[in-house]
Amino acid sequence: MSKKPGTGQTALVTGASTGIGVDLAECLAEDGYDLILAARSESVLSEVAARLSKAHGVKASTVALDLAVVGAGKKLAEEVKRRGLGVDVLVNNAGYGHAGALTASDLDTQLGMIDLNDRALLELTYLFWNDMLAKKRGGVLNVASTAAFQPGPLMAVYYASKAFVLSLSEALWEEARGTGVHVTCLCPGPTVSKFRERAGTGKVKLAKASTPMPSMSVARQGYEGFKRNKRVVITGARNVVMARLVAFLPRRTVLGLVRNLQSPL
Ligand SMILES: NC(=O)c1ccc[n+]([C@@H]2O[C@H](COP(=O)([O-])OP(=O)(O)OC[C@H]3O[C@@H](n4cnc5c(N)ncnc54)[C@H](OP(=O)(O)O)[C@@H]3O)[C@@H](O)[C@H]2O)c1
Repeated sequence: MSKKPGTGQTALVTGASTGIGVDLAECLAEDGYDLILAARSESVLSEVAARLSKAHGVKASTVALDLAVVGAGKKLAEEVKRRGLGVDVLVNNAGYGHAGALTASDLDTQLGMIDLNDRALLELTYLFWNDMLAKKRGGVLNVASTAAFQPGPLMAVYYASKAFVLSLSEALWEEARGTGVHVTCLCPGPTVSKFRERAGTGKVKLAKASTPMPSMSVARQGYEGFKRNKRVVITGARNVVMARLVAFLPRRTVLGLVRNLQSPL
């Protein structure tokens, strides 16, 4: 049997207890990567680790922690080191959104999106980046959103947090060009997962205007793109068109359109 591309390498996947993160972890395990799975829900993480380890013959360990706590990225990196492990592929997938006007939710909820979606993602990337460059392989797969392509009235902080992820990822893709290190920004549109429940986006017009994609289909497209060092992967043909179109529309038109889509049903 031929050696799988990830054999002897380790992937750290954040937000790997449910949704897209579990499926990204499965794609990596299929390719032979050992896994370190991180999220808050310890028992669910352990179940995912046991299932993927058994199904794909890889090692899978877990770290249960809240990545929205300032300094959690460093704590996770130290824990990985303490276990004598390295990270060849980093998948920054953990994230959440919250629908509504800016002050309709509390400040902690709004700041928490920056802490998890951006701060922890940057912290982990920073801490593993030099090792990747030194090894001239591996890389970072960041999960943003189609929200990254325009401002999002009535979900402003989430959209802005994902614009940060897209901008950072594209810049790092360029910095890493020619080094052997891959950087891909996965930008899903609506996807079947627990995201909608936490974000409250089931009650806005966008939910009626779109059909969510299965999370494995999103994960597979993202992972295949990462393998080819594709800079940006937007899932779903309609989402590709919309994400590209907004660059050519007047900003005021885009703001009005998104405000309408993010309005309550
Ligand atoms: N679903 C969509 O429609 C959609 C569309 C575009 C982009 N995305 C992005 O895709 C990514 C994955 O979301 P999903 O759709 O798979 O949603 P999900 O089912 O809610 O999964 C989110 C994952 O992140 C983890 N997580 C949440 N808060 C965390 C925290 N404070 N610390 C550590 N881990 C935390 C969750 O685990 P615990 O609860 O156990 O911590 C879970 O594993 C997110 O970045 C999201 O913004 C989703």
